[in-house]
Amino acid sequence: MVPITKDWLKQYGQEHLLNFESHWTTEQRLKVLAQLASIDFDLIRRLAANNSEELDGSRLASMADPPPSVRIGQEHRQFSSQSAKQAGEAALRSGQIGMILVAGGQGTRLGFDRPKGLFSIGPISGRTLFQMHIDRLLAVMKRYEVSIPMYVMTSPATDAETRAYFDQESRLGLKADQLNIFCQGTMPAIDATSGRILLSGPTEIAVSPDGHGGLVSAMASSGCFEHARKRGIDHFFYAQVDNPLVEVCDPLLIGYHLLSHSQMTTQVVRKRFPKEKVGNVVSVEGKVQIIEYSDLPDTVAEQILPDGSLKLWAGNIAVHVFDRGFLESVVESIDGLPFHRASKAVPFVDDAGKLVKPVSPNAIKFERFIFDLLPLAERAFVVEADATKVFAPVKNADGESVDTPADTRRALLALHRHWLTIAGAKVKDGVSVEVHPNWALDLDDVRKKITPGLLFEADTYLR
Ligand code: UTP
Repeated sequence: MVPITKDWLKQYGQEHLLNFESHWTTEQRLKVLAQLASIDFDLIRRLAANNSEELDGSRLASMADPPPSVRIGQEHRQFSSQSAKQAGEAALRSGQIGMILVAGGQGTRLGFDRPKGLFSIGPISGRTLFQMHIDRLLAVMKRYEVSIPMYVMTSPATDAETRAYFDQESRLGLKADQLNIFCQGTMPAIDATSGRILLSGPTEIAVSPDGHGGLVSAMASSGCFEHARKRGIDHFFYAQVDNPLVEVCDPLLIGYHLLSHSQMTTQVVRKRFPKEKVGNVVSVEGKVQIIEYSDLPDTVAEQILPDGSLKLWAGNIAVHVFDRGFLESVVESIDGLPFHRASKAVPFVDDAGKLVKPVSPNAIKFERFIFDLLPLAERAFVVEADATKVFAPVKNADGESVDTPADTRRALLALHRHWLTIAGAKVKDGVSVEVHPNWALDLDDVRKKITPGLLFEADTYLR
């Protein structure tokens, strides 16, 4: 390996990174050199030169068609919903499915100073986001009499606290061999004007998690793929920690994935209006991909079909099923995943060693997105679900207009009220009932437990 010196860094315009080296102790020197050695300076130069690897959204949008999919209330011409559910259940029962939960984000919008998975969201129970997912996973394991390993991705921002939390809470009921926590990589932040990598302190590079798309390389380097391979896990159900409504290991979604021989299957919801702020799942020249709402020209977004419905109808909710072999092939593929740029205000140490805290964006952060895997798949499939049953992410702090903790709790209670009411119970107006997955995992379970006419007059936690 080339020794990292000021002269060597000069070729990349990054020699300032060693500005303070005369003040360093040996230990500090080793730490900084290790950090520098982990940076791909050629990549940073390419990204900084705005040699953007991003897809040109508006060009793609002009060619976009609806993706190959199965819609709610319609049967697919090749495989029925019944056969899909059976295939999914059989795969679960035979132990071919693992679960991935990504929890490496910094949760800046929520403004919670701990990893978001530790945020209390259960409307009555106060269960955390991690608990909500794991309670469901445990109920799925019980139903299918199988052990399902869980792969939890953290980042340097969330890793230590997440591990401590799982230790303290006895892994929330998972067995030691069912919980695999692994840490994603980071990318340096660069100054938006000069392209220079920022220092967050005299001995520290400013870095941030490399996006949920960092999953693929982190699973490879942490040995999670190998772990899964050895256990006969051929497919992963993927969810993000901030959405506690996710139907963990949904057999229907898994079944469609299997029957369509898809490498990546995505659950979507119907967009409520043309420019809704979601990624649009579309098909361009036979490849399924996502176009951000901001890249969708109004005229394209507003196209309607003869029946009056939106042509580009499918909104991404970040629930996927992956073929393990496909994910592993992406690690090796030279295409990899592109990096996206985000303008952010990043505190930094200037050349005089002074800490500057900008109030407006001064820096570019680089992230990979998991959904950029879609166009790399030779076969991808899309399954529509009802947003009220599967999607209520915690993104923003209470007081904001959408995706707040209050919205998520309301959505959870509305879903549980819906189950109880359909099953014949009565829930008085204003009364909250929260259902623990151990009591009932879904409507079918609720039906078995409820005597029609049962009245809920006070807040109740069914567990
Ligand atoms: P978001 O893009 O909503 O980011 O992540 P966030 O970090 O939770 O929140 P903000 O944008 O800072 O307010 C969606 C999901 O992807 C995970 C998050 O933990 C969340 O489950 N994620 C995001 C990662 O695991 N790693 C990342 O680098 C980014």
